[in-house]
Amino acid sequence: MNRGRNTDTQNSTMTEATPPSKVRFEFEDADETIEEAATASSNLEEDSAMCEPEDSSVGGDKTSADYYFDSYSHFGIHEEMLKDVVRTKTYQNVIYKNKFLFKDKIVLDVGAGTGILSLFCAKAGAKHVYAIECSQMADMAQEIVKANGFSDVITVLKGKVEEIDLPVPQVDIIISEWMGYFLLYENMLNTVLYARDKWLVKNGIVLPDNASLHLTAIEDAEYKEDKIEFWNNVYGFDMSCIRKQSMMEPLVDTVDQNQIVTNSQLLKTMDISKMTSGDASFTAPFKLIAERDDYIHALVAYFDVSFSVCHKMTGFSTGPRSRNTHWKQTVLYLEDVLTICQGEFVFGTMTVTQNKKNPRDVDITLKYALNGSRCTVSKTQQYKMR
Ligand SMILES: C[S@@+](CC[C@H](N)C(=O)[O-])C[C@H]1O[C@@H](n2cnc3c(N)ncnc32)[C@H](O)[C@@H]1O
Repeated sequence: MNRGRNTDTQNSTMTEATPPSKVRFEFEDADETIEEAATASSNLEEDSAMCEPEDSSVGGDKTSADYYFDSYSHFGIHEEMLKDVVRTKTYQNVIYKNKFLFKDKIVLDVGAGTGILSLFCAKAGAKHVYAIECSQMADMAQEIVKANGFSDVITVLKGKVEEIDLPVPQVDIIISEWMGYFLLYENMLNTVLYARDKWLVKNGIVLPDNASLHLTAIEDAEYKEDKIEFWNNVYGFDMSCIRKQSMMEPLVDTVDQNQIVTNSQLLKTMDISKMTSGDASFTAPFKLIAERDDYIHALVAYFDVSFSVCHKMTGFSTGPRSRNTHWKQTVLYLEDVLTICQGEFVFGTMTVTQNKKNPRDVDITLKYALNGSRCTVSKTQQYKMR
């Protein structure tokens, strides 16, 4: 999924997040050494397959087929996530600066990966942490826990959250980093909700507890030409059948804030402590008002997450006006170029649903219209995140 005109996740300036409501997010400066290392972060391809049996490894050496079917077993994807300092530092701050939440509490880490969040929680004084991880990385997490002297506090459980027997009937806190591209890609949110409903004590805490999806519009002539129109004439041949496919696949990429033409619209907020899995499928209206005369080539979606139970509201944004993260933004190209004047608006609805065949994929239907002085358009487009 990583396709980039600018894959450097570290060189943009830190900006205030664009929170869903009037909250002030608290950000900390990133650790210098982690930041320096992050500039060399890997560009590994990601995929959605998880928890597949590791049956194609030969003599203990993993093959690329294993990586394809079990991407979270390879350290590369964890390296990318750990070096995303906006992501990892925010979780660290939430835990270390709110030790009162964790002291003597039983914590469940849903999808523990390397165990980083479990280690943070153990260090913050949790009584016990259960770290569930379905990929082969669980073995590494076990070793990491031991190497850091937390074997008494952290129990790594290898398996699917949906299939595991937890040694305790209830937990006080569920922590997880479940967010995918476009927030909902990979559909790990369902796993968190499953764990919440099965094990979280009444009045327990889910971290993060709030996520929101936002939409804006951008000028993107150059890149649309390069990624989409390219297929119309490839060395003199018509490959426009591929253009159709490329239009349907949202592009995960970083957007320069200078490309933004309109305001941002909040599409959906999710209260992770209360929502049902059905709430992740929705239709939301939008109205994007042009802030200058320009052309619009694409709509851009991004998400924010927040931890409202902290002493001070903490969170981060993956929006184009904020510091880059490995989630980048999600670009949905429009069939037509919209010519828009300042004050005019593009309006419509976005429908987001789980794909029926593969629930880890996301189907998006965009209905939009512009009744402007120089351009009138009304259209419906389908997209699929896969
Ligand atoms: C986005 S990663 C986060 C890893 C780690 N918590 C971190 O913050 O670096 C999500 C992890 O959850 C695991 N995972 C996803 N679905 C799972 C499930 N149903 N049961 C157990 N683990 C799961 C994946 O294998 C992956 O390692």
